Amino acid sequence: MPQSFAGLVEDDQDNGLFRVNRRAFIDPAVMEEEKRTVFGQSWLYVGHESELPEPGSFVRREVAWRPVIMVRDEAGTVRILFDTCPHRGNTVCKEAAGKTKRFQCFYHGWTFNTRGELISVPDSAGYGPGFDKKNFPLATPPRVETYRGLVFMSLKADIVDLVTYFGRAKEYLDLILNHSEDVEIVPGQQSYSMRANWKLLVENSIDGYHAMMTHERYFIDYMEDLGGSSKDWESIVAPIPGNTGIELDSGHAVIENPIGKLPMSANAAQHLGKVRAELEAKFGREYTERMVGFSRNLFIFPNLIFVQNFRTVRTFYPASPDYLKVNAWALLPKGEPAAIRRLRHDNFISFLGPGGFGTPDDVEALENCQRGFAVREMEWSDISRGMKRPPTSSDEIQMRAFWRRWYQCLYPSYAPQMERPVPAQVAAVPNRRAA
Ligand code: FES
Ligand SMILES: [Fe+2]
Repeated sequence: MPQSFAGLVEDDQDNGLFRVNRRAFIDPAVMEEEKRTVFGQSWLYVGHESELPEPGSFVRREVAWRPVIMVRDEAGTVRILFDTCPHRGNTVCKEAAGKTKRFQCFYHGWTFNTRGELISVPDSAGYGPGFDKKNFPLATPPRVETYRGLVFMSLKADIVDLVTYFGRAKEYLDLILNHSEDVEIVPGQQSYSMRANWKLLVENSIDGYHAMMTHERYFIDYMEDLGGSSKDWESIVAPIPGNTGIELDSGHAVIENPIGKLPMSANAAQHLGKVRAELEAKFGREYTERMVGFSRNLFIFPNLIFVQNFRTVRTFYPASPDYLKVNAWALLPKGEPAAIRRLRHDNFISFLGPGGFGTPDDVEALENCQRGFAVREMEWSDISRGMKRPPTSSDEIQMRAFWRRWYQCLYPSYAPQMERPVPAQVAAVPNRRAA
């Protein structure tokens, strides 16, 4: 008898109640089903084209538990190759990143070009007439697509195209990407893990409610030590115009806040003023204000987060129901002065990642949630905040967006209703309060 996942989510919009059964965070059967239906039927982020500057450039990744190579072939095309030798299984890529003309399996020496074609086999006389090298390329995912340099793959051959998959999230992704003519991933990545279910990090990545409580050390102590004022960050929780959480289509979601002031040098402020003037010339004042006047965290279902304030891309997978692995990168404007690049990078790593002021706080909270789930007498987690008012980023509509889509993946008879319509157009969202 197949497992039933009915009842894991309760969505009572009339009474403003939404809850998730904690079995969702601990049951190995749930995770197996997630592999098949959540991760197996979505577009999954692999990397950014800027990580492959030249023909032959490659990076090794793990996507949906599969080792993959993202490589720019000799003709300049970005390809995704599954990293398993068609001979007997060994991975053929030993370096995390680099440049090469070929991948040679070090077990028996089969060698592949950057298109993944088998080009040589040691002692080929050992094979009979039916053996044709053409029949042994590295396998590839059924679907690969790129949006503005962001490379995605899907394990589902008949999935909708990537832009259709984004739906209204595309407008918010464009708000993030239009900041700069050209962006690039800064070499290097943050890789860390936590003893927590992966969905706790989905929630946490779009959770404004916890910010001032969990990260008091950063927002109050650190900001004031740098010469800033914690007052500038209070908008994170205040119900003011422009502070909002939005349920987008298909499980995607976004939170936005009028941006807090960051302490910075006169030179940096002058540079950013120039950038803003250029953006206004190109996009007009209103759209520019939408771009740079707000911090936003954009969640693309099922496991991709853009943290605009920190210019960060983050993705993660469960290794088991109570353990998750995270990778994150800095996506910064290309060609800015070194001091500005450094400022943006410092901003990222001083809050996010294992050495930041923010991430260790989140890890502490999430690992303790997971410990708390051992109390089986407490069956439910409440995610109903803000169901009966225009939502702010410190409400939980964005998490409900995720959970509705997630539940539909596990329990297809569930037909989720969106709580509120998505704002008509991105540029029409209320402007920030007067400075
Ligand atoms: S497993 Fe790769 S050559 Fe044998
Ligand atoms: Fe946090």
